Amino acid sequence: MPEYIHVSVAWPYANGDMHAGHLAGAYLPADIFARFHRLKGNHVLMVSGSDAHGTPITVEADKLGIPPREVFEHYHHRFLETQRQIGISYDLFTHTDTENHHQIAQDIFRKLLDGEYLYRQEQRLLYSETEKRFLPDRYVEGTCPNCGFDQARGDQCDNCGALLDALELINPRSKTDGTTPVIRETEHYFLDLPAFIDRLSAYLGDDKTHWRTNVLRVSQNKTQELKGRPITRDIAWGIPVPLDGWEDKRMYVWFEAVMGYFTASVEWAKNTGQPDAWKKWWYNPDARIYNFIGKDNIEFHTIIWPAELMGIDGLYADDSDGSITLPYDVPANEFMNIEGKQFSKSRNWAIWMPDILERYAPDAIRYYITMTFPETRDSDWSWDGFVTRNNTELLAAWGNLVNRVLKFTAKHFDGAVPDPGELRDMDREILAQVENGFEHIGGLLEAVKLRDALSESMMLVREVNGYLDRAPWFKVVKEDKAQAATTIYTALRCIDNLKTLLAPFLPFSSQQVHEFLGYNGTLFGEQQINTFEESERAHEALTYDGSGAIGRWEIGDLAVGQTLREPQALFVKLEPDLVEEERARLGQPRQEMLTD
Ligand code: MF3
Ligand code: ZN
Repeated sequence: MPEYIHVSVAWPYANGDMHAGHLAGAYLPADIFARFHRLKGNHVLMVSGSDAHGTPITVEADKLGIPPREVFEHYHHRFLETQRQIGISYDLFTHTDTENHHQIAQDIFRKLLDGEYLYRQEQRLLYSETEKRFLPDRYVEGTCPNCGFDQARGDQCDNCGALLDALELINPRSKTDGTTPVIRETEHYFLDLPAFIDRLSAYLGDDKTHWRTNVLRVSQNKTQELKGRPITRDIAWGIPVPLDGWEDKRMYVWFEAVMGYFTASVEWAKNTGQPDAWKKWWYNPDARIYNFIGKDNIEFHTIIWPAELMGIDGLYADDSDGSITLPYDVPANEFMNIEGKQFSKSRNWAIWMPDILERYAPDAIRYYITMTFPETRDSDWSWDGFVTRNNTELLAAWGNLVNRVLKFTAKHFDGAVPDPGELRDMDREILAQVENGFEHIGGLLEAVKLRDALSESMMLVREVNGYLDRAPWFKVVKEDKAQAATTIYTALRCIDNLKTLLAPFLPFSSQQVHEFLGYNGTLFGEQQINTFEESERAHEALTYDGSGAIGRWEIGDLAVGQTLREPQALFVKLEPDLVEEERARLGQPRQEMLTD
């Protein structure tokens, strides 16, 4: 029975380009997982979009002296293009400034208010007398009370990850002009998290053995200290609070951004002409929702978003719909450093995706990032590692395996799968070993151990190379063509299966191998940037159409006599010189896209 799998992917702030840390933290794991489930024939809905609101966008807009809308539209467009190029196969990548998202976020606000999960309270906040306004979230910086980092922001410390209340900052100062703010009172809505304590504790119970221990531990600790959280702000850019007298305030960006998993599902359903289809994931006890995020976002996804969902249960539902689906797993990744140092936008210590996509193939980048996924601890991008892994693993082990077997077939067997005659033990053994990969590697993928899954797939590639070192083919083809045919047949069958096993990780080159082997059609569907009409404005989104996909997570049926196509090189050898060139780029000023 096909399963319903929802892949909810963190919404990137549209205030800067996508970098390797984004890919390693959330986007690539989500894509690999979604592709695997599609290959298994499951019903996958993978959504995300640009996070368009809040102070991350307005601070950047202030810096550049342009309206926030321009900032987010610029980067939204670049996100679409970058993710299309690197092959992140969203069913829908939209943004939070659509008509649809605004409307549903306001419905959710009202539903929470009706359920008495929201309350109003005067709040003491930092106010700038020079700018004559409150300084929410990122408008204020100071020293972290938790770890002493002196550039903690009003909402969160980037050094220790603690979520902060700006009043806790030591020596607070305005991000805009450096002056010391004063404290003023202002009224806000709060989400009553303590009201959910029993339900959250049950949700985050020790029976969540499939969760990463770190994610569960952090979340369980948070339930010990639940407080109401303000979910509105004194700011002009964001989703209006749907109440009279609240025209000057907006919803807090995190409060509404997490709703995007739900609102984008509804938008996808509308776009595809099946307006109720989102319910197959959101009102289905058997559906499984996975949230792919970075570790700095854990609390928002394991406490705040589940609480919001518990509070709106029944929204847009019929009597027969049952309960709303809570996230099944939140496989948060740790951070990826670069050449031993922490990512920093301001110091330009970063690997920018649009830049490296100009120089390297998407699968080479995907391969390296997956092999360095920070699944259990922080990891490190090193250019030396990138070149070495590309040359010795991707190219020497996998690319050359495909290349030499297919070239040999073209030369000695008229480019068609030869009749193997009787298989020998060694052939049966290697075939069985590779075929077992569907269960073994499938299990790792299922458990979101993606780095291990790719390593194990590459182990199988090496096993097949080992088999070709032992089996008779190259030297015997002239005098004993039948022996060579048995070997080549076996190797081609292995390559056919390896192509499928590697497809979630390396979709572009797997598609190529698929075609070299003489198949037609696509392993996966097509991705496109489309424009959607809404009641007030059109918006661009990245969409995926899986209807053409023929791939299946099962043993391939490569037939004797199937005609192969002429193989091309799958991967490019990288020169060791580029290591120094790339390292030299780190920390250098980068051309600011919006000001050129
Ligand atoms: N915009 C946030 C970030 O880049 C992530 C938001 S995830 C969401 O850290 F679910 F809230 F959208
Ligand atoms: Zn800190």
